[in-house]
Amino acid sequence: MPADLVIVANRLPVDRVTQPDGTPGWRRSPGGLVSAIEPVMRANDGTWIGWPGGDGSGEDDLEPFEADGMQLVPIGLEQDEVELFYEGFSNATIWPIYHDLVAKPEFHRVWWDSYVKVNQKFAAKAASLASEGATVWVHDYQLQLVPQMLRDLRPDLRIGFYLHIPFPPAELFQQLPWRRQILEGLLGADLVGFQLPGGAANFVRLVRQRVGHKTHRDLVYLPDGRTVRAGAFPISIDAAGYEKLARTESVVERSAEIRKALGNPRKIFLGIDRLDYTKGIYARLRAFAELIEDGHFDVEDAVFVQVAVPSREQVEQYRILRDDIDRLVGRINGDLGRIGRPAISYLHTSYPREEMAALYSAADIMVVTPYRDGMNLVAKEYVATRTENDGALVLSEFAGAADELRQAWLVNPYDLNGMKSALLEAYRSDDKDLTRRMKAMRKTIQKHDVAAWADSFMTELAAVSHSSHAKT
Ligand code: G6P
Repeated sequence: MPADLVIVANRLPVDRVTQPDGTPGWRRSPGGLVSAIEPVMRANDGTWIGWPGGDGSGEDDLEPFEADGMQLVPIGLEQDEVELFYEGFSNATIWPIYHDLVAKPEFHRVWWDSYVKVNQKFAAKAASLASEGATVWVHDYQLQLVPQMLRDLRPDLRIGFYLHIPFPPAELFQQLPWRRQILEGLLGADLVGFQLPGGAANFVRLVRQRVGHKTHRDLVYLPDGRTVRAGAFPISIDAAGYEKLARTESVVERSAEIRKALGNPRKIFLGIDRLDYTKGIYARLRAFAELIEDGHFDVEDAVFVQVAVPSREQVEQYRILRDDIDRLVGRINGDLGRIGRPAISYLHTSYPREEMAALYSAADIMVVTPYRDGMNLVAKEYVATRTENDGALVLSEFAGAADELRQAWLVNPYDLNGMKSALLEAYRSDDKDLTRRMKAMRKTIQKHDVAAWADSFMTELAAVSHSSHAKT
């Protein structure tokens, strides 16, 4: 059935998996994008086009299906597309360039060719599903060419694009051999949304310099008379939903169980991240271990729970990271742990929302220390679950969330001593200080939740596409 709202993202909210008994099943996909769009989909009765995961063993597209009240349309990727488009161009070229070159990007022409081909596939599917004059909202760095491809196929559509990760400064973006094509791909949208104003400004500057279009503030004027707006729309979470979840009896009980299982230490530190080199996991664990070595506290006093969600395991940089973290955790626990008292409780797995909420509730100090992060929804989820206005958040200055959560202990993850001081301050802080900080942060998150984010994007999209189309 033709849809009035089509969401196009590389991933569907669920992944196809093979269950232990060999039958196919579905599991929630990792990452912030899925958690943010899910509530928007439910509220707007949209159709979601995306890849259902898997190793790309050449299976044909699955039939559209309904899950949790959402219309989902899977697009299968061939094995070579998984390697070249997904692991290659998306995650070993674009991802590192857009994250400050935390790892070295690779440039391969065959990766680019596959990126073009897969973007075309997504654009064609969206074009075939959208009703006349529908709104299509394209998401993230894997699909930057889709807006223009879609406009060529269906000029009647209202097209929005949102980038969930940072958009880099010109100095970095310019390294991309296909920089112009990417900018032109994005300009197919009526509205191009970024997490922060800096990303939008980088984009407009690059369009002026590299494509040569006229710009004024956040507007780009195209030769065909269309206007494209670039804006900042900081993403958020379903704050009320998390708060409610944190108050449910089963989560409260589970949270107490977790504390007990950890030996009721005075303080529980917590990190929850996809296992990604941008997240600064290595540095934070070192900082924590050094605080024990320096004698500030003991493994009887504090434990660090680190949940590392498996991610992009076929990409070399991610394999190296996994080995590095495995070794570091082994060394720290070997040197500092005691029987029944590891310094770090390390879990390489993903958990459902309920378990995450119980972990957030059990933790005294949440540690979020990416080298670069578009927003970081884990930081916001932690704040939302602190219904008693307690708990400390140690947050990297280089996460988008730091723009809003000013009352966190803000740290530079490259500065190990600075990070140690912040962890220690958070460890020693008194209840009054914690309450003051957490109250302010909770207010921010409650006011600016994911519904407000989606509303502001949609309202702006309607306004800009209306005025742009009115002129043509
Ligand atoms: C980040 C990206 C998403 C991506 C997610 C998980 O949140 O912004 O686009 O889906 O990570 O990564 P994956 O490669 O597993 O889709």
